[in-house]
Amino acid sequence: MNLLIIHGPNLNMLGRRKQEHYGTFTQDELFQKLIDAFPNINFTFYQSNVEGELIEIIHHAMDGDYDALIINPGALTHTSVALRDALEMIDLPKVEVHLSDIHQREDFRKIDYIFDVCNQRFMGKKIESYIDAITYLLNHQN
Ligand code: DQA
Repeated sequence: MNLLIIHGPNLNMLGRRKQEHYGTFTQDELFQKLIDAFPNINFTFYQSNVEGELIEIIHHAMDGDYDALIINPGALTHTSVALRDALEMIDLPKVEVHLSDIHQREDFRKIDYIFDVCNQRFMGKKIESYIDAITYLLNHQN
């Protein structure tokens, strides 16, 4: 499986963010854990702090290079209709992930613009949210 993993704003700062929500690992350590856990998956990782760049990555993913995508849009989850529209357009299995449980935090994090344009959402289990998302995709291949 060729799998695109997209990270939104501030996720490049993992390791320096609030540990109770995001753990102590860096983004590179998170990505390495996924590579180690799923050696047969061909991963492409992309992170940007810029909304438009994330949208363009989703547009490029429509060219057929990937079998599925996982996205943690960071705070754009709660604000971005444009990201939602891009995800709605792309005809690939798509899974939303969050390290923290966005339902157990501030009220503004309960707003989720991408939930219903993704196939599934996993959250609140830090790295395990990603492991669950990949396992879901592997179990739902055509
Ligand atoms: C997050 C949750 C968001 O509310 C927050 O803005 C993030 C990370 C998570 O992975 O828990 O940056 O998406």
